Amino acid sequence: MSYKDEIKADNLPLHIAIIMDGNGRWAKQRGNQRIFGHKNGVAAVRDTVEAAAELGIKYLTLYAFSTENWSRPKMEVDALMTLLVSTIHKETSTLMKNNVQLNAIGNLSNLPPDVEKQLKASIANTSTNTGTTLTLALSYSSRWEILEAISQIAKEIEDGKLHSGDITYDTVSKHLTTANMPDPELLIRTSGEYRISNFLLWQIAYAELHFTNTLWPDFRRDDLYKAIIDFQKRERRFGKTSEQVINKN
Ligand code: FPP
Repeated sequence: MSYKDEIKADNLPLHIAIIMDGNGRWAKQRGNQRIFGHKNGVAAVRDTVEAAAELGIKYLTLYAFSTENWSRPKMEVDALMTLLVSTIHKETSTLMKNNVQLNAIGNLSNLPPDVEKQLKASIANTSTNTGTTLTLALSYSSRWEILEAISQIAKEIEDGKLHSGDITYDTVSKHLTTANMPDPELLIRTSGEYRISNFLLWQIAYAELHFTNTLWPDFRRDDLYKAIIDFQKRERRFGKTSEQVINKN
């Protein structure tokens, strides 16, 4: 029996988020520059997106470039940006073939103009696709996003559009970059690191966390299937007791 056959179709996570980590180490192990790892990470992205689309995962969010990644050596940042433009351009046909709609979150105005332009073009080209929504987190960090949300909420209060006493969890969620998406139910991090690294901090409040030692360029659909099988074995209690969950009360 393959891993895919072990997945129960009636208990799929609605939203999977992935911290793609380990590209640099993968390249170093092969005596290569870090960008060699990023380039090889593209095949992992393609396989993961195709597998998620085939399974019918509604939302897939990939942490592709964090706010903090801007502090990496200029050569690596430039090479990553070039890779992003060419990958988004080349892979738009894969997205179309798999009925995937592209989306992006983050401080996109910080991206080089050619990256932003290609991103917007691919988002427009895939906008009528109805399968998986693939969100790329680019120049993204959760603290940046939460700060933006607080500023917007404060402005609405100042302008008399909102009363401070009316702020709910929903008010905050609606001011985040993920306003139109359900929260991730499964968060995967590759490369054996056990950190969240400023990713979707508000949204993962009740996500199941899956860590794998696999370095991102080696990640393939079987690794995704294993993470989903792991997710399906978890008892999601949301603060309740096990008995309450079993008895559904
Ligand atoms: C983390 O590995 C990976 C990144 C910062 C970049 C991820 C980018 C890609 C996989 C390229 C294409 C992606 C898309 C979505 C088009 P790391 O460099 O931190 O690895 P290390 O921890 O081993 O140094």
